[in-house]
Amino acid sequence: MISSERRPSVCGQPPVSVGTTQDRNLVSTISCHYRIVASHLGGETNLWCILREIYARSMAELPHSFVDSAGYERLMGRWSRAVGSVFLDWVAPPSGARWLEIGCGTGIFTELVLDTCSPAAVFAVDPAQAQIDHASRQPVAQRANFRVADAQALPFPDASFDVVASALVINFIPDRPKALSEMRRVARACGIVAGYVWDFAAELSPSGPFRRGMRQFGADVPELPGTRDSSLAALNSLFEQAGFEGIAAKSIEVKLPYFDFDDFWQAQTTSYSPTTKIIAAMTKSECVGLVEAVRAGLPVRPDGRIEYSARANAIKARVPG
Ligand SMILES: C[S@@+](CC[C@H](N)C(=O)[O-])C[C@H]1O[C@@H](n2cnc3c(N)ncnc32)[C@H](O)[C@@H]1O
Repeated sequence: MISSERRPSVCGQPPVSVGTTQDRNLVSTISCHYRIVASHLGGETNLWCILREIYARSMAELPHSFVDSAGYERLMGRWSRAVGSVFLDWVAPPSGARWLEIGCGTGIFTELVLDTCSPAAVFAVDPAQAQIDHASRQPVAQRANFRVADAQALPFPDASFDVVASALVINFIPDRPKALSEMRRVARACGIVAGYVWDFAAELSPSGPFRRGMRQFGADVPELPGTRDSSLAALNSLFEQAGFEGIAAKSIEVKLPYFDFDDFWQAQTTSYSPTTKIIAAMTKSECVGLVEAVRAGLPVRPDGRIEYSARANAIKARVPG
């Protein structure tokens, strides 16, 4: 349900809660029809404002469902590649290893492993059928074994892998201790378990400037899943509790440019993100205000490009021997 913490809403109406997905679908349908009627009547009414608020709040409760792989590539592709290669240098895995990648998404990190780590074999799993379908259509699929599976119940025997890695995934897993115990189970004794997540707690993900702009505008921006476990201290503690040894952690900063504001905006408004659904419920004039608020907070280079840093927190550990 919606948090009891109340921040300024997009239209200043009192907060309203809705329950099930069916409720949300109904509210969404009603608000779409109401929008059409309101536009014919020539503008804003109080009821429209309330419906829009209900819709925005119900959307804010929806989790990331990773059903739009092309959108994922547009938002995260460049960032994932940049941080993944720094991470792999730091982990320094042995060549000839059998790898399992957890939460492979579209296969970005899978490809980095294949291109830079000389593995003996790479298995890659993700619970989202859309992501696995996308990865399976890429050239990387000729070199890796992709399959649908959840980190909380890995379909592999004990001690099957030398390295178990996850890129930008741990925070999205609902039962993180269970997933870490599964990663430990399928890794061999003295094998490596490693991963990294964006520093959502410090709002330093690639969406940080976008989310800050939305907040500045007064929108109710939902917290990203697993934010509380995205700091170095929280990751350390998760790995300690899972019984790993030789734990090391570090932050990785990457700085990337966007060609211009449109490039940035297109990348940030993927269909699967709850923030995009909130924006979809805004009026035209609110959208204009939002664009200005987001634009005002962005670092623009003299050549017009938008450039900023994002921070990932990385962890690596050994399975007890
Ligand atoms: C931010 S994407 C990362 C994708 C890819 N590893 C990369 O670096 O680009 C997070 C991925 O974690 C997956 N995921 C979410 N919950 C999961 C779970 N319980 N077990 C395994 N993967 C999960 C999602 O489906 C999504 O593809």
